[in-house]
Amino acid sequence: MAVERTLSIIKPDATRRNITGKINAKLEEAGLRIVAQRRLRLSKTQAGAFYAVHKKRPFYKDLVKSMTSGPVVVQVLEGEGAVQKNRDVMGATNPANAAPGTIRKDFAESIEANSVHGSDSAENAAQEIKFFFKKSEIVG
Ligand code: CMP
Repeated sequence: MAVERTLSIIKPDATRRNITGKINAKLEEAGLRIVAQRRLRLSKTQAGAFYAVHKKRPFYKDLVKSMTSGPVVVQVLEGEGAVQKNRDVMGATNPANAAPGTIRKDFAESIEANSVHGSDSAENAAQEIKFFFKKSEIVG
């Protein structure tokens, strides 16, 4: 398995509860290395553009609202098969279906306030990383 990079976002529900360190610990314990990280407040335009793929979904408006409700931490994670590894440690989108020990099982409040986002493919990871980071900001 090749070394890959993936984009992760610690969402406002998690920054609000001051659990970014607990989430980072789970990522690191899973074998992922945080090679870039920045805390910021997304604008409506940024959140809307980032989730443009969901524009037609009924939850889009609420998703943009919740993603702009507080600070997020955007990060690039690196590791062997990082895209899948991150999805495994995040757990299912709906915390009710997430496996024990996963971030969403342990921390998520609901399907919307589900604490973290992670890229779903290597192609999307490349796009999502570019959305937030310059090459020079990623230090592997
Ligand atoms: P995320 O991995 O960030 O990708 C899209 C987000 O939309 C998802 O996590 C959830 O926070 C949110 N969402 C809200 N309702 C749904 C739903 N019914 N199905 C999928 N995602 C949803």
